[in-house]
Amino acid sequence: MRLHPTGKFDNHAAKYRHIEVQPIAAAMGAEVLGVDVTRITDEQFAELRHALFRHKMIFLRDQRITHGDHEAFSLRFGPFAEDAYTQGVPGHRNVQPLIKEADDPSKMVFGEGWHTDSPFLPEPPAITILYAVEVPPFGGDTIWANSALAYATLSDTYKAMIQNLKVHFSMRDVLRAAQEAVQVSDSPIGRLAATRYAEKLPEDLQRKIRGSFHPLVRTHPVTGEKALFVDSAYAIGIEGMTEEESAPILKFLADYVTQSAFTCRLRWYPGTLAMWDNRLCVHQAYNDYHGYRRELYRTTVKGEKPS
Ligand code: SIN
Repeated sequence: MRLHPTGKFDNHAAKYRHIEVQPIAAAMGAEVLGVDVTRITDEQFAELRHALFRHKMIFLRDQRITHGDHEAFSLRFGPFAEDAYTQGVPGHRNVQPLIKEADDPSKMVFGEGWHTDSPFLPEPPAITILYAVEVPPFGGDTIWANSALAYATLSDTYKAMIQNLKVHFSMRDVLRAAQEAVQVSDSPIGRLAATRYAEKLPEDLQRKIRGSFHPLVRTHPVTGEKALFVDSAYAIGIEGMTEEESAPILKFLADYVTQSAFTCRLRWYPGTLAMWDNRLCVHQAYNDYHGYRRELYRTTVKGEKPS
């Protein structure tokens, strides 16, 4: 992996009047202090949203929220996105449970490969908001990588070469891995695993396998920042290229984005509320807490057709 003394790392906090922001790494990520999301003011929300776009992932500690509070906070960013994996919890269609039981024998955890959320959809979710209720005593962290910083550090020649490429995103490989490795259970990947017994996949799943083609270099609709839109979980090809041609480019870029210099890592505690901008970063859940229970809930905010 390459470390670049490029001068392009700038994760300093901006000056805010209504919130306090403490960056947690050189590349991205920040803690927001002084906010209770159940009573957030318009001024605080405007600054928090600014901090989210600047730091790509932000988090708050010690939030005590109900599913209703979670939904209400999420709706401040915009309508809910289509959820590709769950039907929500009873009474809260848009609050998705991400729960792994202590006795779950699966060798795979939801979200364990580097990914941006559901890029196989025509309009992938813009923002994800994840809340921790119960976490392992150690392990179960999440790690993010700044794909805007990665784009900024590429050479001009490479940037020009990839400028107009489109990536084919599909659920194909994640479904296959779940079918091969995961116990059938009432969890997002446990339900995917159950499809190994199906004679024909439901049309909705076939749609997600057909997937979508999106620009490899994506421009943020609010800030205008450019970022690489690529990951190792869902990117399976490049439009107009054979697999032999596209595979080395996708592998180089997915590895390049996720080099450790471009990352930050979060230790969860009950009450931690984290949010990230899927247009500007990729993330990965660590699969290192076998034998411990982990209970988180997430909402996603509707995104646009990437351009
Ligand atoms: C996700 O990929 O949205 C889940 C991340 C996590 O469980 O840490």
